[in-house]
Amino acid sequence: MTPVTTRTFAADPAGLEAAAEALRDGGLVAFPTETVYGLGVDARNSDAVARLYQAKGRPSFNPLIVHVASFEAAEALVEFDATSRDLAQAFWPGALTLVLPLKEGAGISPLVTAGLATLAVRMPDHAVAQGLLAAFDGPVAAPSANPSGQVSPTTFAHVKNQMTGRIDGILDGGVCGVGLESTIVAARPVPTLLRAGGVPAEAIEAALGGALATPSDRVDDTAAPTSPGQLSSHYAPKGQVRLNVDHPAPDETLLGFGPVEAPLNLSPSGDLVEAAAALFDALHRLNEMGAEKIAVSPIPAHGLGRAINDRLQRAAAPRPEGSGAPA
Ligand code: TXA
Ligand code: MG
Repeated sequence: MTPVTTRTFAADPAGLEAAAEALRDGGLVAFPTETVYGLGVDARNSDAVARLYQAKGRPSFNPLIVHVASFEAAEALVEFDATSRDLAQAFWPGALTLVLPLKEGAGISPLVTAGLATLAVRMPDHAVAQGLLAAFDGPVAAPSANPSGQVSPTTFAHVKNQMTGRIDGILDGGVCGVGLESTIVAARPVPTLLRAGGVPAEAIEAALGGALATPSDRVDDTAAPTSPGQLSSHYAPKGQVRLNVDHPAPDETLLGFGPVEAPLNLSPSGDLVEAAAALFDALHRLNEMGAEKIAVSPIPAHGLGRAINDRLQRAAAPRPEGSGAPA
């Protein structure tokens, strides 16, 4: 891949307009959302989407989330049923992605859906993301702005360090408040939790007045996923990761949670919201520290703890043979 010049766009009207112009030209522009930084492209432009897959080194079977400025903009792309309309009303703008039937003639590149008949859509709750979507005035497909398999970015510096030379620009919008990717729910045939994320499943179940289904099938690294995200090794730092550790070995670096002595602690007070926001930055820091063996304190599996444990389990998953960290 020939290196490209990566510009920095300021989060002001001129910067947002320049970033929107870069998207119109088929460019790859990273931008902050409340969850993580996304790597945006015009979702209608197949050449741009193909460049995006290449820049991330992402398997092309893994479809992308389309970001929209409003419920009306989502309605132009997908078919809402009553339940999914209620969920959008309850959680948008916010960290909930809905997977819904793609409307015919919506104009979305088939590379975005990886040929599926459904589309994942979400309306982000972040002023800079909203500013970009308004200036661009169209659907923006955006995976997290990291090389495939590596740790997701929650700061401008994370994106700059990982993606300089691979993408056309980065909108500098500070730190992401939630720090974990969106929760993904497929609306049909019954509301199904495809990925735990920034909106706790309990909150969605309260809004639904019933339990979310879970996909029974887990896929491995070679099968095409029928449910998302779901390469077993993902979100991986360079070091080996061991979970639920109360007493780390002498050669392990402890990533703490709660009142434990540790060089890095996700939340000394045991607050899951604080821990979610700190998680990916902590994994980036462990890379910078050159930590080869990482032990992680036990983290409760309710609320945002479910998404935190999901990401950590993938970070700890066996990696493809001979690859160190996944590519
Ligand atoms: O918070 C987020 O969701 C961030 C920000 C940038 O919005 N984006 C993000 O995108 O995490 P990405 O590409 O890293 O993860 C998108 C997930 C993938 O696991 C993909 O498999 C799933 O969404 N997905 C996309 N379209 C789908 C579809 N039609 N059916 C099922 N899963 C889908
Ligand atoms: Mg990702």
